[in-house]
Amino acid sequence: MDTRILSNSLGVEISGIEANQPLSPEAIAEIFDLFLKHHLVVLRGQSIDMDQLGAFARQFGELEENIVRLNDGNVASNVHTVSNIGMDGKPTAKPNPVANYFWHTDKSYYEIPSLTTVLYGAEVPPNGGDTQYANMHAAYDALPAAEQHRLSQLHVVHSWEQSRLNAGDAPATQDEIKLRPPVTHPLIRTHPDSKRKSLYMGIHTSHIAEMPEQEGRAQLDDLIRHATQPQFVHTHEWRVGDLLLWDNRCLMHRAVANYELERYRRVLYRTVVRGTKPY
Ligand code: OGA
Ligand code: MN
Repeated sequence: MDTRILSNSLGVEISGIEANQPLSPEAIAEIFDLFLKHHLVVLRGQSIDMDQLGAFARQFGELEENIVRLNDGNVASNVHTVSNIGMDGKPTAKPNPVANYFWHTDKSYYEIPSLTTVLYGAEVPPNGGDTQYANMHAAYDALPAAEQHRLSQLHVVHSWEQSRLNAGDAPATQDEIKLRPPVTHPLIRTHPDSKRKSLYMGIHTSHIAEMPEQEGRAQLDDLIRHATQPQFVHTHEWRVGDLLLWDNRCLMHRAVANYELERYRRVLYRTVVRGTKPY
């Protein structure tokens, strides 16, 4: 395995892996070590179908079920696509889901959110359609000690219902809301493997439990602005065949609408590996 560091903030590219085949336990352990150290792992030039993507991801843990509805109204299976393709099979200005285009960490509205998301570039625009990542350890470390202490007392309510409203997407249905009631996580999260601290927030949040609602939302907006400054961010420019895995416990990410959504197809295969309860 050869490795290349992608930026000061985060990310490592690994070559010499074929992800469409079962990997040895040693190879998985090596990839996972690099994942813990750099938070984002990029494999290029892969050729993988959805079943193989599921099998690859399962080597890192249990796959998470979904509640996002596809454009055809069906619930996505645990390996699915995220895309800008509408019901008529053509690119549209409204990607599914819209929240992907805002800073977030996957499934933070679950009691037990995600460890990693695995994303594969099946069809990407000729230019743009990037994914950006922000390092929440670095953002936390950059705060003054008194601020770190103050924030460590706070808890954030994450809500699927609120997320849909925040992103301006179709409102959550009553069934979805029942299935995914709001959950509360600490604002400052300790990484279960490295024990480093990070900020934990994003588009799926509603408010801060200990603050008046508007004040809490303003505080979260401030922190997102702080945490997504250029020095904490890495931008991935997609090529077909890229396979990415990132640590949702210490990164935020978002898709960037820097391409003509109504013109170019952007189809990514995706699956999510379940993590552990944040503390
Ligand atoms: C995701 C996601 C971003 C993108 O799949 O969880 O946020 O660039 N994707 O499509
Ligand atoms: Mn996401």
